Amino acid sequence: MSAPTADRKATGVFSPSRAQIQQRTLRTDRWWMPTLWTDLGFATFIIYATVRAFWGSAYYVPEYHYLTPFYSPCVSASCVEGARHFGTWLPEFPRWIPLAIISLPFLLAFRLTCYYYRKAYYRSVWQSPPACAVAEPHSAYSGETRFPLIMQNVHRYFFFVACIISIINTYDAIIAFQSPSGFGFGLGNVILVANVILLWIYTLSCHSCRHVVGGRLKHFSKHPVRYWMWTQVSKINERHMMWAWITLGTLILTDFYVMLVASGTISDLRFVG
Ligand code: FES
Repeated sequence: MSAPTADRKATGVFSPSRAQIQQRTLRTDRWWMPTLWTDLGFATFIIYATVRAFWGSAYYVPEYHYLTPFYSPCVSASCVEGARHFGTWLPEFPRWIPLAIISLPFLLAFRLTCYYYRKAYYRSVWQSPPACAVAEPHSAYSGETRFPLIMQNVHRYFFFVACIISIINTYDAIIAFQSPSGFGFGLGNVILVANVILLWIYTLSCHSCRHVVGGRLKHFSKHPVRYWMWTQVSKINERHMMWAWITLGTLILTDFYVMLVASGTISDLRFVG
C-alpha cells in the first residue's frame, strides 16, 4: 500500500509526495498564464454582478417587457409593476437587498460548486496546485473530504434548482415578445433568447445532469430513451468549460443591454412592433 493511501485511510489527509527539488517547479513555460486569465475573468464577473445586483434600477424595460436575468424572478413589492412576472410574494425590500434575492444565492451556489469552476478556482485562487508539476503552497491535501469542501457534494441538488431558474428565464424571454401595440421583437429579444438557450446548454451539460439521465444503469440496451438522452448530454458535457465561460459573458451582455435600454441610454433596435 502506498504511503499517501495509508495516510488518507488514517487521517483523511493526503501527504504530499513531491519530487525532492529545491525549485518550486522546473517548468520554464508561462504556466501561470491560464491562472491569471481565470482570475481576471472571475474578478470581472464578480465585480460586475455584485454592482448590478445591488444597483436597484434599470433592470426592466416596460415597453417591451425586457427583464434582466440578474433580477429574475422579481417577486418583491419593491419591483416595478410589470417586472413581477410571477406575482408579488414578498414585501418591500430595503434598498440594500437585491431584488432577485430568492434566486441569486442558488445560482451562485450552482456555479460555485460546478465541477469546472471548482477546478478553476482550486488552481487559480487556492493554488492547489496552480498548475501541473508546480508545487502548491499547502503542506497537506484533504481534497473534498472535510468541511467546508465536503459541501461541494450538494451540487447535484443545486442542479435541480438551476433548472427551475432556467425555466423562469425562459418564461421571461418568451413574455418579452411584446410591444406597446401587441406582438413585437427587437435586438433585446435576440439577446434574451440567445442568453436563455446558452444557459440551458450550460445547465444541461452539467455532470450531475449526465448522471441523472444515464447514471446507475446496468444495461443501456434496456433503457434506450435514457441512453439517447445520456449521449446527447454527453456531447454538450464535453464542452462544459466552454459553456461555463460563455454564459458568464452572455449574462453580463444581456444585463448590460437591458440596463442601457431601461436607463434610456440607447433605444432598442426594433424589427417588429
Ligand atoms: S458540473 Fe458544472 S454545472 Fe454541474
